[in-house]
Amino acid sequence: MQLRTLEGLALLLTGLSTSEATPFRPGASDLLVPPPPPPPGPVPGREDSHPPPQPREEAKTPVAHVANGTYLGLWNEKYDQDFFLGVPYAKPPVGDLRFAAPEPLDEAFEEPRPATEYGWMCIGYGSDTSALGNPVSEDCLTLNIVRPAGYKAGDDLPVGVWVHGGSYVNGGSRDPRYNLSYIVDQSVEIRKPMIAVSINYRLSYWGFLFSEEMQQEGAGNVAFKDQRLALQWISDNIAAFGGSPDKVTIWGESAGARSLGMQLIAYDGQHNGLFRGAVLQSGSPVAVFKGAAEWQPYFDALSAKTGCGDVGDRLGCLRQLPWQTLNDVFNNTNPLGVASPIFTAVIDGDFMTDQGANLLKQGKFAKVALLTGNNFDEGTAYGRQGINTDAEFQAWLSSLGLNTQQISDIEAIYPDNPLLGIPAFLIGRPPTVPYGAQFKRAAAFAGDYQQHAGRRLLAESYAAAGLPVFSYLWNVHVNGLPIVFGATHFQEVAFVFNNVNGDGYAINPFATKPESFVELADLMSKMWAAFIHSGSPELNKCKVWPQYTLEKPNNIVFDVNRTALHYVEKDDYREEGISYLLNNIFV
Ligand SMILES: *[C@@H]1O[C@H](CO)[C@@H](O)[C@H](O)[C@H]1NC(C)=O
Ligand SMILES: *[C@@H]1O[C@H](CO)[C@@H](O)[C@H](O)[C@H]1NC(C)=O
Ligand SMILES: *[C@@H]1O[C@H](CO)[C@@H](O)[C@H](O)[C@H]1NC(C)=O
Ligand SMILES: *[C@@H]1O[C@H](CO)[C@@H](O)[C@H](O)[C@H]1NC(C)=O
Repeated sequence: MQLRTLEGLALLLTGLSTSEATPFRPGASDLLVPPPPPPPGPVPGREDSHPPPQPREEAKTPVAHVANGTYLGLWNEKYDQDFFLGVPYAKPPVGDLRFAAPEPLDEAFEEPRPATEYGWMCIGYGSDTSALGNPVSEDCLTLNIVRPAGYKAGDDLPVGVWVHGGSYVNGGSRDPRYNLSYIVDQSVEIRKPMIAVSINYRLSYWGFLFSEEMQQEGAGNVAFKDQRLALQWISDNIAAFGGSPDKVTIWGESAGARSLGMQLIAYDGQHNGLFRGAVLQSGSPVAVFKGAAEWQPYFDALSAKTGCGDVGDRLGCLRQLPWQTLNDVFNNTNPLGVASPIFTAVIDGDFMTDQGANLLKQGKFAKVALLTGNNFDEGTAYGRQGINTDAEFQAWLSSLGLNTQQISDIEAIYPDNPLLGIPAFLIGRPPTVPYGAQFKRAAAFAGDYQQHAGRRLLAESYAAAGLPVFSYLWNVHVNGLPIVFGATHFQEVAFVFNNVNGDGYAINPFATKPESFVELADLMSKMWAAFIHSGSPELNKCKVWPQYTLEKPNNIVFDVNRTALHYVEKDDYREEGISYLLNNIFV
């Protein structure tokens, strides 16, 4: 099975199908990836991770003078672009800064520093990380900058900041599927040039652990605070690279989009001008948030397990442990046997003050332009496989935290009728093994619960505030996936990145497919670049993507089987189920 073809499928294969972000459990499928290199050892220093650049034509080496030093980048001949890779945006989150809010850099440096190689990925668990050979370290808070060559400090280019997904447990900005060269190239082609930036942030428990003592210290939502600090660094420094701090658009997919949803509602929507637009592909801030009380049992068990249970300052003790000790627990080599809440925002009274849906309904969100959307069949990546009976369906809903009343309501709204399920185009029931007789039912519920309900509330909330909203649906069956997954989660990414060669995919999603696939990638990547450049995805005067308003809540639907590659449709599908979820579960 080709893990690299589908984040969602990887989730399915590894049992990560029911929750927003359950810790990954390595499965047999991991054996398909090359063996990991020797572990990086105790927190490699930055000096080691950035060997000096290879000798090259002096004049072509891009140089950027930030406030406290100089970075030497890398010129890419093929795309005529300047790269600055692996640039740190925070102090390494190690020692006293482990499980703590990140701190800004505060040192000047004399010698110019090379910025020619991607930095370490944050320690994570799952195929997005292992497929790249686990190049991980705690010291991972870096970002990458890609700009068309020929621009310089003061040029004020718009900036798109990519935040990767991976269920909050794996992934990183160095993943070749997130190669920024192609979309930057597209931006130049449409004469709306942009700079693209991609960032890392802490993952798994390294970024999501929480407890009463962490709350006391302001150490909640640490992964999201990493992202925030990266945005602050960009605001403070991007001018030195030719970008404009006033023209930043945040842009992410899956857990990356969920993260950015959190940034929209963080601090009750006060975003301090860190961004002026947001692109959220398959992710929103709508999820069920817990707090310190629900996290405490896990924190207590972790402390006890690692010898930090009986000390006065348990958090201080956890911070001093060798990273491998914690890694063994988090990676399940030395299992704790106590479940934590699933990874998402926590209500810490600081970064996050309430449930995401409530903040949206109260208008407590960043007032910026929004582009957001979902794939038709997201649910096939989230619905549990192997459900054959009503009792099994009920048990699954219960495991997601639904109560008895909610379960019986959901059973009625999402009946076991394959004519109604997801994927809708699939007639009848898919094979019982491995999918389960009720797979289409599970997928219909899971897609709305995990994705579609949040998108609709987000789009409505932004439209109600009079902000420009562009909403899409995406319906394409890519190469390399079983047809039963339909237009599933993650698959639009290769199109938005215009990655038509399939860099980083085990099977190229475009191979064997008609030219319309390449044309759609061309169209979408240009629309995204246009939105990042100027807040609208329109490519010419003839408008094709209507704004989403309360009077006319329309989605553009991307579909390679339509001559125009798109059509417009009212956003009223599965109204009953989505309303139920928004009014009874996400409150
Ligand atoms: C620059 O260096 C000074 C001291 O050397 C420090 O106070 C300041 O925080 C630094 N600024 C940045 C952006 O690193
Ligand atoms: C994107 O991929 C191309 C082709 O492999 C490569 O030349 C380029 O360096 C990559 N761009 C970035 C930003 O990594
Ligand atoms: C986690 O465990 C898997 C499977 O044993 C292994 O391949 C991977 O390298 C481990 N990850 C880390 C960061 O230690
Ligand atoms: C588009 O058409 C192809 C060829 O007929 C078909 O295999 C595919 O399922 C269609 N896609 C969608 C989303 O219906």
